[in-house]
Amino acid sequence: MESTNIIEGRNVVKCFKEVAAVVGINFTVKSGEFFGLLGPNGAGKTSVIRIIYGFSPLTAGHMHVFGININTGWRAIRYRLGVCQQENTLDPDLTVEQNLILYARYFDMKKTHARNRAEELLDFFALTNKRKSKVMELSGGLARRLQLARALMSEPELLILDEPTTGLDPQSRHQVWERLLELKKRGMTMLLTTHYMDEAENLCDRILIMDHGRIIAEGAPRELITDYAAESVIEIEGPGNELRNFVKSKDIRHDDLDDRIIIYTEAHGVLEEEIREKFCMESCLFRAGNLEDVFLRLTGRELRE
Ligand SMILES: Nc1ncnc2c1ncn2[C@@H]1O[C@H](COP(=O)(O)OP(=O)(O)OP(=O)(O)O)[C@@H](O)[C@H]1O
Ligand SMILES: [Mg+2]
Repeated sequence: MESTNIIEGRNVVKCFKEVAAVVGINFTVKSGEFFGLLGPNGAGKTSVIRIIYGFSPLTAGHMHVFGININTGWRAIRYRLGVCQQENTLDPDLTVEQNLILYARYFDMKKTHARNRAEELLDFFALTNKRKSKVMELSGGLARRLQLARALMSEPELLILDEPTTGLDPQSRHQVWERLLELKKRGMTMLLTTHYMDEAENLCDRILIMDHGRIIAEGAPRELITDYAAESVIEIEGPGNELRNFVKSKDIRHDDLDDRIIIYTEAHGVLEEEIREKFCMESCLFRAGNLEDVFLRLTGRELRE
């Protein structure tokens, strides 16, 4: 195994009684990488993450973290990573500061060291003036920031983030993004799951898209956009037969949603110009292709549950 691989999963399988949550996936996360794990609800993201931090054993396959086999070395691995779980796992009866300091005990940190580290993190996440507040008094955004701060108490080499910004307002999300980008600058390796495609596109170096426990695509955000959607997108309301025949005859990548057609083209290309002139008398939207286009094209537009 290469030393630069922080996580290496080979034929990873996770089954619950009747559910095959992860069906033999292979992936690696390199040192310093911001890695995104995307997929619809129930795709298997949290199942993969729980294996990595030693919460849930593999059904089959191999997982190495920091070059250590998870089956035998999960204790050593846990010591070196930080986790921000999907659910709020803070102690509601303790204060902000106590949540950080008590957590440090799991890592045998000296009291003064824990205090100093807590101080730094309260400052980093703009929580200093809330240090004496009970967790149950915190808004969702503050609680999330505290959960992130707690995950960093032990100065981990790898940070695992399971939907860290779900339910946050735009201000809080941007604040969390800024902090995560700052950590990236300092060389932290991060594994993120999110349902916000703009978040994944802005933060991640590389993305893996899962569905039904399998990997369906992998690459840098830009690569995924050019491979599965396009640089440029035209959305046209109420398409007529002439337009439909045109896109078919030119073999242009498109999605026909009956009352709307989405066309994927090269930016400023000949086809884009032709469509603009012939079919855009009214209600045409020209925009850049994005990761949401990729996600919907790969996993469909129907509701899952
Ligand atoms: N402890 C469990 N017992 C039984 N089934 C489980 C358990 N945990 C997960 N599953 C099932 O495994 C599948 C994958 O779930 P998982 O939580 O990994 O998905 P996810 O991609 O994290 O979804 P979400 O985006 O909703 O968080 C689902 O069908 C889920 O119902
Ligand atoms: Mg999940």
